[in-house]
Amino acid sequence: MGIREALALQKRQVLIFFVLLRLSHASTESVQYTMPEETETGSFVANLLKDLGLGVEELSFREARVVSDDNKRHLRLDLLTGDLLLNEKLDREELCGSAEPCILHFQVVLENPLQFFQVELHVRDVNDNSPTFLDKEIILRISESTPIGTTFLLESAQDVDIGRNSLQNYTISPNSYFHIKIGNSVDGKIYPELVLDRALDHEKESEHRLTLTALDGGSPPRSGTTLVLIKVLDINDNAPKFAQSLYEVQVPEDTPIGSWIITMSAKDLDAGNHGKISYTFFHASEDIRKTFDMNALSGEVHLKSALDFEVIQSYSLTIQATDGGGLSEECTLGIKVLDVNDNPPEVMISSVTDSIPENASETLVAVFSVRDLDSGDNGRMVCSVEEDLPFILKPSFKNFYILITERALDREERDEYNITITVSDLGTPRLQTQHTITLQVSDVNDNAPEFTQSSYTLWVRENNSPALHIGTISATDRDSGSNAQLTYSLLPGPQPGADAAAALVSINADSGQLFALRALDYEALQAFEVRVRAADRGSPPLSSQALVRVQVLDANDNSPFVLYPLQNASAPCTELLPRAAEPGYLVSKVVAVDRDSGQNAWLSFQLLKATEPGLFSVWPHNGEVRTARLLSERDAPKHRLLLLVKDNGEPPRSASVTLHVLLVDGFSQPYLPLPDAAAPERAQPDRLTAYLVVALAAVSSLFLLSLLLFVAARLCRRSRARSLAGCALPDGPLPGHLLDVSGTGTLAHSYQYEVCLQGGAGTNEFKFLKPIIPNLEVQATSTNMNGMENFRNSFGFNIQ
Ligand SMILES: *[C@@H]1O[C@H](CO)[C@@H](O)[C@H](O)[C@H]1NC(C)=O
Ligand SMILES: *[C@@H]1O[C@H](CO)[C@@H](O)[C@H](O)[C@H]1NC(C)=O
Ligand SMILES: *[C@@H]1O[C@H](CO)[C@@H](O)[C@H](O)[C@H]1NC(C)=O
Ligand SMILES: *[C@@H]1O[C@H](CO)[C@@H](O)[C@H](O)[C@H]1NC(C)=O
Repeated sequence: MGIREALALQKRQVLIFFVLLRLSHASTESVQYTMPEETETGSFVANLLKDLGLGVEELSFREARVVSDDNKRHLRLDLLTGDLLLNEKLDREELCGSAEPCILHFQVVLENPLQFFQVELHVRDVNDNSPTFLDKEIILRISESTPIGTTFLLESAQDVDIGRNSLQNYTISPNSYFHIKIGNSVDGKIYPELVLDRALDHEKESEHRLTLTALDGGSPPRSGTTLVLIKVLDINDNAPKFAQSLYEVQVPEDTPIGSWIITMSAKDLDAGNHGKISYTFFHASEDIRKTFDMNALSGEVHLKSALDFEVIQSYSLTIQATDGGGLSEECTLGIKVLDVNDNPPEVMISSVTDSIPENASETLVAVFSVRDLDSGDNGRMVCSVEEDLPFILKPSFKNFYILITERALDREERDEYNITITVSDLGTPRLQTQHTITLQVSDVNDNAPEFTQSSYTLWVRENNSPALHIGTISATDRDSGSNAQLTYSLLPGPQPGADAAAALVSINADSGQLFALRALDYEALQAFEVRVRAADRGSPPLSSQALVRVQVLDANDNSPFVLYPLQNASAPCTELLPRAAEPGYLVSKVVAVDRDSGQNAWLSFQLLKATEPGLFSVWPHNGEVRTARLLSERDAPKHRLLLLVKDNGEPPRSASVTLHVLLVDGFSQPYLPLPDAAAPERAQPDRLTAYLVVALAAVSSLFLLSLLLFVAARLCRRSRARSLAGCALPDGPLPGHLLDVSGTGTLAHSYQYEVCLQGGAGTNEFKFLKPIIPNLEVQATSTNMNGMENFRNSFGFNIQ
């Protein structure tokens, strides 16, 4: 048959059907093609594009490939055209033996998503084998007395083709003694029998040579021939006799080579040479001759080569016992091979994925088929995978299984699985096969970076050098590769003015090291916050943020600043000190501040130099300058004090203050105790109050006197009119509201006035009196002191 013709025929016979099995993500489709055997290599089988509905680019892009069940490359896929081509000549007889139909299974596997198609190639028989006889010559010994019509079994020819292409007929070369009768055996095979048509005569013709031809039914038919040599024998009365016509034995397939199987025995009643029996296989096939050994004399049958139930399940041997005279008889020996569980199951992986993304749910991992060459329970299989793994096995097409993931995997939990597929049969003993698939779980950017702390506090001492490394922020990402490569960046903090704060620091994008961009000043900014963002390089990237608080630490970079007395005034201010001042009299108070904080702002005061050492003392903690002793006439009127204000920093910083003190004589006495206003009023009565009371008492006394005189005059006039008696004052004590100015009770009355005065807010006394006091210089000093008080209250500076 020419290729062109074959192709045409094949095209006509292409039979396609699709079995669509939707199995989670993989689909299994089946396509069937028919192809005659012996077609030239490279012949076109089918175009997959059309039949599977795929695009041309899809084939190469998805790495389409053809995988066959027996792992041989019978077919080849042209990725450019989608043509399925024969990779080698197919020989149906080699592939399938006598099995019919002869179907080869292939999978077309496409990646991404994994998809596989079943392709069945039906290999059609072609009459490419001629019938053959195993022996080139068949020798028949026939006694001359054999009756007409006796039949003689002849050896069958073999033709490995099937159907019409197998053996169909036998013919014998034309002769006058014999003709051929075709017999049908139980297995449907035909065999030739030679039928005697005319009595033989040894003396006339001792030998006949005939040609037996076997014909098959192909078109054109093929044939094979053998020579049949018939030897005509002298009379031999009795032929050998077997006790049974059929013997049956069962032999396990694992029987060792050389084992005894059976001993055949026939009886011949003839004596002598005519009773001597020899046993032979009659018309034994190649298989039988290879497998069994017949001892011609003893009739013992031994095993010559290993049995294999999977190849041949039973043998039917024809044993011929021939006596010395040439008479023979045949019997059948049926040898049944018993299956032994000697074949472990096999796992054939059609397609396997070695990596799946971690977020994919229910993904196809592998497609495989299993087989066990044994039969019955020995060939029944159970297939399993480890139960603690998130994979399930589903039966698919025929003996195919698919392995899919049960759920989405988590690479961070486990990045590699060794999945062991265990297939065991149900035979005794059980045989099992394991196949391990290693599956990598590929990373997906599903974890955001995590900072080691949710917020960071970094300390930096002020006046730092620019670009100082002040700390490192670090985050981790549980993903891998670029999904775990982090870059850090700064974002403004949440509070107002954050943009400015963010400009103070910079971050190294790779290492997370935070640098101060410029020198920081504690006095200007004690702390600021920035947000640090860590982002990975995944697609899409994930990020997270952390708050970073930078605390500026104080350094002693500010000297104390003296607020009072003013140091820059053109006319230095001078404190007045009355000569009458007691020791401990408060001359002045030095007020200083320090812009630093903490220790760096703890100030102490110290008298450095004085014109008159020993006259003044300075309280180290509050800066009060007080007199140390009574002043004397000999003390110079002008004094200059040099004080040192020092903070407690490391190293300390200081400032000096010059204080001028002027000793005065006529200083208003009542005003002097002013700084001691807090002293108890009653123990040391205020002299000023006393003066006032005296003055008031005098005025009141005058008023009362005039009133009394006025009243007395009226009373005198009335009594004179009434009794003309003389004027007299009433006796007894005076009413309380009247002032007795006659006696020495001034002090008592002035005390009453004082009480009245003290009735108001005690401290208002001075304010109330202020306008009365004409001394302007004193007023200026007091304003200064008050101003200082206000300053301290409103600014809250740390004043020591
Ligand atoms: C076998 O061949 C003979 C001789 O050619 C013919 O007569 C006969 O019909 C054939 N038998 C079959 C079954 O074809
Ligand atoms: C898995 O993650 C990738 C990348 O983030 C995304 O494109 C894809 O849609 C995800 N798949 C599923 C099934 O969630
Ligand atoms: C899987 O098997 C390989 C090779 O035997 C081994 O190196 C690997 O550690 C195994 N992995 C796991 C997760 O057991
Ligand atoms: C002295 O210094 C203070 C504080 O710096 C300032 O307010 C004041 O105006 C200055 N006075 C003179 C006279 O320079």
